[in-house]
This record gives sequence, structure tokens and C-alpha cells, in this order.
Amino acid sequence: RTLDDTGPISGKTALVRVDFNVPMEDGRVADDTRLRVALPTIQRLRDAGAKVALLAHFDRPKGKVVPSMSLKPVVDDLERLLGAPVRFAEDCVGAPAAEAIRDLETGGVVLLENVRFHPGEEANDPAFARRLADLGDLYVNDTFSAAHRAHASTEGLARLLPAYAGESMRRELEALDAALGNPRTPVLGIVGGSKVSTKLDLLNNLVAKLDRLAIGGGMANTFLHAQGIDVGASLCEKDLADTARQIMEAARRADCELLLPVDVVVAKEVRPGVEAGVRALDRIAADDLILDAGPETVARLKRAMDLSKTLIWNGPLGVFEVPPFDAATVEAARHAADLAKAGTLTAVAGGGDTVSALNHAGVVDDMTFVSTAGGAFLEWMEGKPLPGVEALRV
Ligand code: 3PG
Repeated sequence: RTLDDTGPISGKTALVRVDFNVPMEDGRVADDTRLRVALPTIQRLRDAGAKVALLAHFDRPKGKVVPSMSLKPVVDDLERLLGAPVRFAEDCVGAPAAEAIRDLETGGVVLLENVRFHPGEEANDPAFARRLADLGDLYVNDTFSAAHRAHASTEGLARLLPAYAGESMRRELEALDAALGNPRTPVLGIVGGSKVSTKLDLLNNLVAKLDRLAIGGGMANTFLHAQGIDVGASLCEKDLADTARQIMEAARRADCELLLPVDVVVAKEVRPGVEAGVRALDRIAADDLILDAGPETVARLKRAMDLSKTLIWNGPLGVFEVPPFDAATVEAARHAADLAKAGTLTAVAGGGDTVSALNHAGVVDDMTFVSTAGGAFLEWMEGKPLPGVEALRV
């Protein structure tokens, strides 16, 4: 159920779960992307005459009141972006919350203090969820990025009040369905990042579903090592060689073409501007560090994109934070964005580092969809049900 299904809500209080777990520097919001993502839902509810009470977590205070993890610093930025006043309540339940909501005018907005200051939030304690539910008439979940958590404000509340997916949740689910649920085929995946160990479930799920899967970043070294290639001093999880071979075998059985690097960029240390060289796989020296994919690998990846109708991307291809080892990620991202703009490729990306990498390449707005979710995006790519989404289906 979405906001199209609420019926008249004028004068009612909507409890809206948002994700304001934003990067902060010196007590100020350093990146307001997640605030902007929440605006369409907030505005739509205000336009419909509802009072809007925002529920959110910040960081991991583990059920205690930690003043440095207050949501209060978010208020100024939210007011600026919304162009309307935003009240703040010092607690998300009890008298401070109830009074702040009571005093709101129609269309008014209040941000309630960090729900994780209460142990009942992460415990998904029904009594705590009930205290939250008592504050409102309907519940809107607009946080796909916290939907992998079965917490009171992401899951429990949906069982106590009429529950709806907000605008950003709806867009996110539609985009993800277009990428993996019901995609235009053939589908290409790109999975990068440093470690295979953190992405085992994801790789196993993807090889069973995709037509092609490109593996990049440090994790590709483990696959190269598993094929008997000497990766020198590069990051490599040697104890996972058998696991990498099993994934390659699963790919073969599922008819998923695996694209591993055919050449690499190496250096002796990770430092901006350090002397770097392209190497064939049989030319890697004992003290070489593989830090990026080579030009022939990128050319093959671009050809694979040309042959695909859908791309799902998680993780950079190299150490993109340290130029020149951003080259493969930037070139591949720009090619994906060009195809997405031309309408020939549905290009969906997500996961923490991926968004920074696409930002670095300057293409976030040109991709078909970029998810702001980190852990939730990975769990979804692993094929796991997300409690916050499942609770909206009942
Ligand atoms: C995120 O930043 O990915 C979400 O807000 C979830 O945060 P968490 O990992 O602390 O639950």
C-alpha cells in the first residue's frame, strides 16, 4: 500500500519513518542526500493536510541517550530544504512527543528524537512500538535503507497502524524490481569492493540470476589467485580460494558468464599520483599491489554493457579514492550513464561506496536509479526478505 491508498488524511497524524542517518562533520550535516530523499513524502502528506511526525535513528547509541547522537542538528537543514518550520521533540515517545504533535498545525512537521535512545527500538519491543503507535493515526515507512532492520519503528509499527510505503520507498522498490525482480534481459551485474568474505551470499545469489557478472576491486584478486594467478603483494583472501572456485562452478552451471580482470593496474604503494603501470596477469611482480582494473578489462566490461539491457552495480572496480586508481571505475560508470541516458540500459546501483564512486565519476544523476541504501541494498541483492518491506505487505 502506498500513499495513493490512504484515503482522506486531513487533520490526522502520520508517523513517518525516515532515514536521517546522515554523515555529520563538526555537528553539522555533511551530506543532505537522505534529507532530500524524504521531501516528496513529507510534502505530499502536508499537502493532504496531515500533521507529520518524523521518526528516525542516528548512529548506534545502543538504547541509551547519547547527546552526541541527537537528531537535533538535522532540523536546520530540513527546514531549509522543506521551506517550512520543523519542530523538534526531545523524546520520540511520552509527553514531549505527544505535546509537540498536539501543538502542530495542519501540515506541520515535527522531528522526534533518535528512536534508538530507547532499547525497545532495536529489540522491536511490542510495548515500545505501542507507545509510538499511540502518537499517530497512520504509519508511513519511507526508509528502504533501514528496511533490513526488524525494529519497532521499521517493522513493529506497521502491524499496529494502517501502514503505507512512502514515495522514496515506492520508487526504490520499483527500481529494484526493474533490476532483479522483473528485469529486461540480458542482465549484467558488477560487484566490486575489497573482500569476497563480505559478499559471499550476494555472489551466490547473483550467479543464479544474472546472464553476466563482472567481478572487480580487491575481491577479484581472490578469484585470480583461485585460478593459479600470482597476485603479488595484493589484497587477497587466500583461505577463500575454494569458495571462489565454488562460485565459479555455480556460475558455469547457471550459465552466468563471469567476467574477471584480464589485465590490471599495479603500483608499489597506495598513494595519490604514485607511479602506476598496466600489467598482463602473468607479469605481476612479487611486490606489486593490484589497485585497479586494466584498460582491456574495462573495454570488455563496456562491451558487456552494450550487450545488456539491465545493469545492477555494487562496489568500485579499484581504489577509486586514490587517483589514478579511479580510472576503471570512472570510465565504466560514464559508459553505463551514457547508455542509461540513451535509454538502452536500465542502470541501477547502490551500496555505500558505490554511491561515492558514482559521485566521483559525476554520473549519479544520469543512472536510471541510485539507491541511498547501504546494508539494505546488499541484503536485497542477496535475495533476503527485508522485514521493513515485508511488514508493509500484510
Ligand atoms: C544505513 O545507514 O545504512 C541505515 O541507516 C541503517 O543503519 P544501521 O546499519 O545502523 O542499522
